Amino acid sequence: MRTILKFFSIAMVLLLSSCSSGGDSDPGPDPNPDPDPNPTPTTVTYTNTISLVISSNCISCHGSTPTNNATISLNTYAKVKTAVESNGLIDRISLPQGNTNMMPKDGTRLPQATIDKFITWKNNGYVE
Ligand code: HEC
Repeated sequence: MRTILKFFSIAMVLLLSSCSSGGDSDPGPDPNPDPDPNPTPTTVTYTNTISLVISSNCISCHGSTPTNNATISLNTYAKVKTAVESNGLIDRISLPQGNTNMMPKDGTRLPQATIDKFITWKNNGYVE
């Protein structure tokens, strides 16, 4: 019995010391926790995103005075917002390449990531 007890306590000591020796290399609580792996993305606003896409891809026809037979102008926040709400702007940019109604007309379909930004902008309530 004494031998078994002795063996048991040696085994426990070895077990504990192997644990604590593993812990020796542990620097303790991380002083610099990893950055949030899912940081909140910058809000899509008219100013930081939408207006830039419109300027590069739409204003040539949808300027303050529409040209090339365009029907509406898209040169202000209010006009772009109205076009999304009432003129199917997102539907038009989402049409497949080659569809005659796709915008930019006769141009290259916007990258899907850019189209998604219009959808986010709409869903977030048209942040200016
Ligand atoms: C090359 C000229 C041209 C460019 C560039 C262009 N459009 Fe157009 N757009 C037109 C014309 C012409 C019409 C009217 C005919 C039609 O509805 O297809 C029109 C119509 C529209 C309409 C429907 C307006 C209505 O009366 O209901 C929307 C919305 C629109 N464009 C959005 C855009 C957006 C957004 C872009 C940029 C991504 C863009 N367009 C780029 C020529 C253009």
